[in-house]
Amino acid sequence: MSGRCTVVVGCQWGDEGKGKIVDVLAEEVDIVARYQGGANAGHTVYVADDMVVLHQLPSGILHPGKRCLLGNGVVLDIARFFEECDAVQARGVDISGRVGVSERAHLVLPYHRVLDRVLEESASATDRIGTTGRGIGPAYEFKAGRRGIRVADAADDRRFRELLDSGLERARASMPRLEPDEARALDEAVETTARLARRLREFATDTGMEVAEALASGRSVLLEGAQGTALDLDHGTYPFVTSSNTTAGGAATGIGIGPTRITSVLGVVKSYTTRVGNGPLPTAFAPEMDEHMRKLGSEFGATTGRPRRCGWFDAVLARYSARVNGLTGLAVTKLDVLDSLAEISIATAYDIEDGSCIREFPADTSTLESVEPRYETLPGWEADTSGARSLSDLPRNARAYLDRIQELTDTPIDWISVGTHRDQIVRVD
Ligand code: IMP
Repeated sequence: MSGRCTVVVGCQWGDEGKGKIVDVLAEEVDIVARYQGGANAGHTVYVADDMVVLHQLPSGILHPGKRCLLGNGVVLDIARFFEECDAVQARGVDISGRVGVSERAHLVLPYHRVLDRVLEESASATDRIGTTGRGIGPAYEFKAGRRGIRVADAADDRRFRELLDSGLERARASMPRLEPDEARALDEAVETTARLARRLREFATDTGMEVAEALASGRSVLLEGAQGTALDLDHGTYPFVTSSNTTAGGAATGIGIGPTRITSVLGVVKSYTTRVGNGPLPTAFAPEMDEHMRKLGSEFGATTGRPRRCGWFDAVLARYSARVNGLTGLAVTKLDVLDSLAEISIATAYDIEDGSCIREFPADTSTLESVEPRYETLPGWEADTSGARSLSDLPRNARAYLDRIQELTDTPIDWISVGTHRDQIVRVD
């Protein structure tokens, strides 16, 4: 019998708490694989009182014995990857033989990071994306432009060096003249990359084949998305997006399996909304409430430390995410962050400038910039939910809030997270 293959996907602008959900689900699977993104992601997981932030490795790495894969859809920053492997090992986690990287995955190279910065600096304030500065966009541009370097290229020192040198030359052509210390730092980083590439060989694998074989033999697999639906290159708030397909379809192409192998898609939504980086956020709070929620939810970027903008739960976006990802279930996170609020609102539709009301998430980003959300306001529960372990432990108003999210998204809630720790979770049967 074929094994289960679950995709875990973010349904807002990233930072929904996927790391915690994957960490909980990893217990029950054999393989955890990331399918897109790179070191722009920051998955925060708490083990006992220890906070661990993972940027490249799948959250499953903290579970002894689980195989962790990085698919072809991922862009790999070699230096950060090894730093993270070493850091995890220093915490006593044995990773030997447990990590595999697709031979087809592209590398994020030092010149991609420089290009990322240069592009952002040269853009006008309104055009600036607010990237994480990790070289993600340029790495995917090189991939699509057929001048990237893949993990498979690390098998041959000479060829790797040639590709690296020609990539550097091409990148330099679109860079302004660098300051001498910047130019030196870039050269040094390129040399480090050339040296580290050899170490990559032992990790190289065919992730599509590994996953297909595991499923065929009845083992189960979790495909872990990074960022969120509204940051998807095709389905997000373009151009204020990341450069990969964060949505569930990206899981099949980003690992190398057919979509028919996927058995369920779990969408992760935070019980309110946040966004880091530039671009529209229709349900954004006014400054005072924004500040208040940021404190309540510790809403600062896991990768860059930037403050996240906060807003009410946007059911227009969540419904869109349910459709685009084909969600079979939802995980609602950070419910406890709302515990102290007297009233809680949900956006159910958008009023637009021409006087009409829309219920679908618009493709046009300038429309989204100017929409006025229509809110439905529910009473808060003003009680501590962090100790809840079953649905019946939750206050009536909290359950009513969750019921409304289910109704508006037409998707059943399978999990509710009520705190940062592994055990602070409700499984809905
Ligand atoms: P990039 O992925 O670094 O190119 O950044 C593009 C956009 O995606 C920016 O708005 C980033 O803030 C956002 N972004 C990238 N990764 C994450 C993430 O893991 N969480 C939230 N936002 C992200």
